[in-house]
Amino acid sequence: MTDIPVSRLTDLEAAAELAFLAKRMAELDKAYYQADDPLVSDAEYDALKKRNEDIERAFPHLVRADSPSKRVGVAVSSDFAKVTHSVPMLSLADIFSAEEIRDFADRVRRFLGLSDADELNFCAETKLDGLSFSARYENGVFVRGATRGDGAVGEDITENLKQIKGLPLRLNGDDIPDVIEIRGEVIMNKADFMALNEEQLRTGKKPFANPRNAAAGSLRQLDPRVTGQRRLSLFGYTFGAASANPWDTQTAFLNKIKSWGFPVNPHTALCANTDDLIAYFTRLGDKRPDLPYDIDGAVYKVDRFDYQRRLGLLARSPRWAVAHKFPAEQARTRLEAIRIQVGRTGALTPVADLTPVNVGGVLVSHATLHNEDEIRRKDVRVGDTVIVQRAGDVIPQIVGVVPEKRHADAVPFVFPTVCPVCGAAVVRDDEDAAVQRCSGGLTCPAQAVESLKHFASRDALNIEGLGDKNVESFFDKKWLLRPSDIFSLEEMHGEELRKTEGWGAKSADKLFAAIAKVRDGAPTEKFLFALGIPQVGQATARLLAAHYTDMATFLAQTEKAQDRGSDAYAELTAIESIGAVVANDILVFTAQDHNRAEIEKLMSLMTLIPFTPTASTSPLSGKTVVFTGTLTTMTRSEAKAKAQAFGAKVAGSVSKKTDYVVQGADAGSKAQKAAELGIAVLSEDEFNALCNNL
Ligand code: IVH
Repeated sequence: MTDIPVSRLTDLEAAAELAFLAKRMAELDKAYYQADDPLVSDAEYDALKKRNEDIERAFPHLVRADSPSKRVGVAVSSDFAKVTHSVPMLSLADIFSAEEIRDFADRVRRFLGLSDADELNFCAETKLDGLSFSARYENGVFVRGATRGDGAVGEDITENLKQIKGLPLRLNGDDIPDVIEIRGEVIMNKADFMALNEEQLRTGKKPFANPRNAAAGSLRQLDPRVTGQRRLSLFGYTFGAASANPWDTQTAFLNKIKSWGFPVNPHTALCANTDDLIAYFTRLGDKRPDLPYDIDGAVYKVDRFDYQRRLGLLARSPRWAVAHKFPAEQARTRLEAIRIQVGRTGALTPVADLTPVNVGGVLVSHATLHNEDEIRRKDVRVGDTVIVQRAGDVIPQIVGVVPEKRHADAVPFVFPTVCPVCGAAVVRDDEDAAVQRCSGGLTCPAQAVESLKHFASRDALNIEGLGDKNVESFFDKKWLLRPSDIFSLEEMHGEELRKTEGWGAKSADKLFAAIAKVRDGAPTEKFLFALGIPQVGQATARLLAAHYTDMATFLAQTEKAQDRGSDAYAELTAIESIGAVVANDILVFTAQDHNRAEIEKLMSLMTLIPFTPTASTSPLSGKTVVFTGTLTTMTRSEAKAKAQAFGAKVAGSVSKKTDYVVQGADAGSKAQKAAELGIAVLSEDEFNALCNNL
């Protein structure tokens, strides 16, 4: 794998690299799945996979028949039977600081409407660094084991799990539900890992990179006898499907499964507040080197299950738990240069070019420096020895410099006052003074080209064949200057493209077909995201689409909302996650003539699909709900989230479009207006019943 940015690869280089990646990843897969002998760390594997994807996106005509992207995902190999989890196996949001613990606890309190005086306990646990499993018991007897897979579908590892000594084949004791799936982590003790690696070396096999890899490789063995020869352990920490759950708290649940003979990690503590959690984390960090197995942090769970149920789930993780990770791995290297990148919204971002260095198994050659203030605050200078770190999967960061290694001639970095791409003046952002922007707008090629890339990108309109590299080349040719040009590309330049080197009729027609597909039906939420309105990410775009349903309504309402005293403005800012700052960005964007003209042009060229909620079977789906009065069983934000989760839109005021008004105590004029308009008024209990009956 080279380090050349994908946008700078030539066709020839890209083809060579894809060939290398196909061969290399086939080798790695074979080693991992068949020989149980992973050759590289997960992070290195993921980096190769991502590189392959990036190149394929930019060079769709070079995608190989034997491309790793065409093979069954790593998560679920075709060799194991699949198991669909009736309750998905979720992941956890990561946090890294004491401050974020406080934010978590505050968020939970706010959501539940608890005052500071109300008791709120957390169950603090070790975050075990292994492979998660689900073990299903029917009438106390172990019947099926599964890996997590992608969270929805895992692999059947029943026989393999049976080989692990710690797993009870039968549960013994009281209160065992008819059906219960106990979930937890399979791990390999450090000592067993060392012994296994010695054995691997002795028999001429490659050692495993770390205990987690060894545990994963040992569990996912097609021959369960091999699993049996490896010493694996496991701990239970949660449950999936359960026919009954008579426990009130996580602590009681853990004690219960322990009494049935299921192993539970002993380093678990009940914490009454954030100070307790912070103390727990410090204690755990001190114990970490002496523990017989690897942990990578702590997990904090709201202890009470009734609270957990009310808090519910976000997209991939629960709202009631977080993972507090130990600090990221760090390394030292030399800062070669500082480059300025100009993004889609014109923000100037300094990027550090580094002498490549291995940080926790991944080769790092670039890091972000965020902005000018950050460079000044850390006094980072070209030529310095710097400390880089990777935290989770985020872009590597520069933590600071090693002052004693600084050369006498190192000079402070001078941030440009004009845009390095178009030469327009650089100005500080009104809202966030740390951000400096090019004032050129779409006349700045960097901004124009970045917004085109964004428009076509996978999470936006996902136009296959219009990856970064092709957008750049079409932009350079002046074939594409703004998004609407995409839809006349075939008509204007089709013949030429079919004859262009590296293209040919086949791949050109493929691109035109992909464009036609998007033209003939694009979801409004994707379109809203694709526009690249500052601060409007995928989630906000979805909320906007859910609220306004279609683009015509969005445009009409945002136009009215330009008057900050209007109902339309109140309605906009009542949408979850849209405060005054985001609203302002939306309104500034939609008020600009060139943006409005471009949106209208796109609307005339494309068929946009009005927002349709996913939970379409729900009686609340597509309905507009207004809450009024004081709610007693939940807070306003909880009620709003609940309604949205069932596919409803939540509005701030009652109108003809309102379907339900949910009335709390002391409801005022809204309830009266609902009665006048003949709109269904629900009590809080009725609303909850409606949701619970789904
Ligand atoms: S609870 C919905 N508890 O961490 C709750 N997970 O980053 C999800 N993990 O996929 C699981 N120790 O594999 C839980 N004490 C613990 C854990 C734990 C390790 C793993 C688990 C999960 C991942 C999420």
